[in-house]
Amino acid sequence: MNIVLGITGGIAAYKTPDLIRRLRERGADVQIVMTASAGEFVTETALQAVSGRPIRSNLWDREAEASMSHIELARWADVVLIAPATAEIMARLASGAAADLLTTLVLATEAPVAIAPAMNRVMWSNPAVQANRALLEERGVAILGPGRGSQACGETGAGRMLEPDELADIVTGPGFAPGETGGALSGKTVVITAGPTREPIDPVRYLTNRSSGKMGYALATAAARAGARVVLISGPVDLAPPRGVETRSVLSAADMHRATHDVISDADVFIASAAVADYRPVTAADKKIKKTGETMTLEMVRTPDILASVAALPDAPFTVGFAAETDNLLGYARGKLENKSLDMIVANCVRDGKAFDVDDNAVEVLWADGQQSFPTTGKSALAGELVDLIASRYEATRGTGTEPRLSIIRLNDQT
Ligand SMILES: Cc1cc2nc3c(=O)[nH]c(=O)nc-3n(C[C@H](O)[C@H](O)[C@H](O)COP(=O)(O)O)c2cc1C
Repeated sequence: MNIVLGITGGIAAYKTPDLIRRLRERGADVQIVMTASAGEFVTETALQAVSGRPIRSNLWDREAEASMSHIELARWADVVLIAPATAEIMARLASGAAADLLTTLVLATEAPVAIAPAMNRVMWSNPAVQANRALLEERGVAILGPGRGSQACGETGAGRMLEPDELADIVTGPGFAPGETGGALSGKTVVITAGPTREPIDPVRYLTNRSSGKMGYALATAAARAGARVVLISGPVDLAPPRGVETRSVLSAADMHRATHDVISDADVFIASAAVADYRPVTAADKKIKKTGETMTLEMVRTPDILASVAALPDAPFTVGFAAETDNLLGYARGKLENKSLDMIVANCVRDGKAFDVDDNAVEVLWADGQQSFPTTGKSALAGELVDLIASRYEATRGTGTEPRLSIIRLNDQT
């Protein structure tokens, strides 16, 4: 995918070398076009080094124009992403101005245009900026974000540029650029569980775990990018639903078990990355439990084993489990692979804060007669590599010559 990345003069421009890296990790070729103000926040040298291409910044650069004119650049792009997008560039785009390279290129491209606004929260809420946003949106420009949170100016509110990983997922994700179809899981249905579960103790308390859902969400995005229809069954997490994925929200292990079995007959591949509680309180009190004795005992009972129940189905999909262990990682993982009759298991070491709620991960993947190591890398990149491996193992064991078991999935009201 060819991406023209327009960088404008907002403080979030300092994040663009990372954004370029994330886009390139997903296989994109990235050509930078920066405004004069952007150069105040990030250097051409840094951008050129990470993008591997000379930077374009001047409409009147005769040499650059001779090698690839701004019109050729506009045609070359599969996507034009402007990140960060200042209030100023939004105004120029809304007015149809063409006094610089970036705005001229946007007028001349037939590719989808996306902007990631980034500015002080008061600027963002200014009626002029909102009117420009609405106009651009009406004309088909995708407005990505902004997110909420603490800002460089010291204030808190809406106006933060979405994180590089998130932007890269969106623009390289399925359906963003025309013609981005096909892929290793094309025509397959993949069901993925992600995140923790919550097991209620009483109306105000529950038992849960440290899973953030990041790995499962990254897998859902990667599987969708590989052409699959993806149903993501998610425990409570603080993540936006991935674009192009059917996301169903659940709370407890029992909910997740039910939601999984609602759709599993459609699945060609099942990836169980959720950290499902193994036990739940026998009863959830209907009133808040009061503080009484020095100790209290909670009687627990096993929750349904979602992974084993799917793998035991007569027509089980290609089933991938996750093992998060603090010790004897490979021993426990191989045991789980065999005892639960899985097709594959991804073994995660969770000792010393590894794997949970961080952006990087390293895993060992095991199957009946094989094993592969994936050294530490970003969860998105790792998810892409895991999906490639899953697709090739699926092909080797189930795929050849078989028709995809694609059928319509009924959405219920759980989301
Ligand atoms: C230190 C500093 C930080 C700025 N940060 C932002 C910002 O985050 N968002 C924004 O819309 N404008 C910001 N501006 C204002 C823009 O740089 C200014 O409007 C400029 O004309 C934008 O030009 P461009 O859109 O062509 O890059 C900032 C200005 C300064 C001096």
